[in-house]
Amino acid sequence: SSNAMWGGRFAAGPDAIMEAINASIGYDRRLAPQDIEGSRAHAAMLAAQGIIDAKDAEEIRKGLLTVLSEIEGGTFEFSTALEDIHMNVEARLKQLIGEPAGRLHTGRSRNDQVATDLRLWVRDQCDATDAALKALIEALLGQAEAGADWVMPGFTHLQTAQPVTWGHHMMAYVEMFARDRARFANARKLMNESPLGAAALAGTSFPIDREATAQALGFDRPMANSLDAVSDRDFALEFLSAATICAMHLSRLSEELVIWSSAQFRFVAMSDRWSTGSSIMPQKRNPDAAELIRAKIGRILGANVALLTVMKGLPLAYGKDMQEDKEQVFDAADNLMLSLAAMTGMVADMTAQPDNLRAAAASGFSTATDLADWLVRALGLPFRDAHHVTGSLVARAEEKGCDLPDLTLDDMKAVHDGITEDVFGVLTVENSVASRTAYGGTAPDNVRAQIARWRDALK
Ligand code: ARG
Repeated sequence: SSNAMWGGRFAAGPDAIMEAINASIGYDRRLAPQDIEGSRAHAAMLAAQGIIDAKDAEEIRKGLLTVLSEIEGGTFEFSTALEDIHMNVEARLKQLIGEPAGRLHTGRSRNDQVATDLRLWVRDQCDATDAALKALIEALLGQAEAGADWVMPGFTHLQTAQPVTWGHHMMAYVEMFARDRARFANARKLMNESPLGAAALAGTSFPIDREATAQALGFDRPMANSLDAVSDRDFALEFLSAATICAMHLSRLSEELVIWSSAQFRFVAMSDRWSTGSSIMPQKRNPDAAELIRAKIGRILGANVALLTVMKGLPLAYGKDMQEDKEQVFDAADNLMLSLAAMTGMVADMTAQPDNLRAAAASGFSTATDLADWLVRALGLPFRDAHHVTGSLVARAEEKGCDLPDLTLDDMKAVHDGITEDVFGVLTVENSVASRTAYGGTAPDNVRAQIARWRDALK
């Protein structure tokens, strides 16, 4: 038999495979709360405008609440033949209240309905992501506070570059995740307009009040163009783009945790709660959570690319292609939330090893730049010459199998006879980090000021 919602012109029902490819109820059931919220706002507006009568609106309101409680209670029977969440809800409403249910869909279409539902869902998800990012930032601030002056090697090319502090390194991620928060907030602000009432594509001849439904649903205003309202998914793409960038940040931090927790580095010890063992190698403590978070960028970027590819080249307005938006958004959102929660737990629980950090910082000639700078300051050498002299001193230390502070003054003078005892003051890693006082640098006082600034901003 033909479809009860749109089957008027059809004699026969769809092929089973047609039904399977067409149905979205398997995943868009997650939009049930948003769908019902949108329908309630729409029904109340229809009554306020005199388009349906108040008694019918009240039946619809009560019926929708019953449907919601059935869905939340797990007793609702979803039907694939009814395609999607919109028709499943409406068909059940019809069973519950009869004729008035048929008046709900006045001045609206599934096209503006689904655009509204998904916007509401993504908007909520921006808020949930923001809260998760805030928790991660707080965990990072805790680490930064503990080790604002613990010296560790800073790397470029993963080669020892200059000493930095543990706090400074943690605070670098605070900055990144704070920008991620701003990206989700910006996306939320831009998407917060209501498509509801755009109807199928051209708008409606019913005297609806789109301002009222927009307001009831917490949107800033109705979207100004009905074709745009039903046909764009840029809001979902912005969410996915912000999610992708955030996942990239999480992936970099994960990679560092994997490296740092290895036996070769021993910069951090991961807690039991965030490690796994090996079934064959008894000594193992594997950073599986970090590895999985490092990998999540794959599916999150994949979702972003998938939806962008679905959308490109689609003529206005709605096309069924767009039904493919939801699984991408849900999967990316779920995996980002899981990653953020796991990263927050790992960061909060991990224990940095200050002695190992310091020892690593002191090897690999990490204060060579400090030495070159001293030659400029104390002896007036041009930086290029100071660089060259320092390079010779590094070579000498390498020959002797020692670090720069272990060279004797005679070793130094053999390379440049102007060098004095004072040079040893700049060769320690503590002096090196303490000297980086210009704004944004790694000096512990700077780091503490930044921690205080962020603590204050998060209040
Ligand atoms: N399930 C559909 C989707 O997710 C709802 C909109 C269907 N509209 C239509 N004209 N077939 O996009």
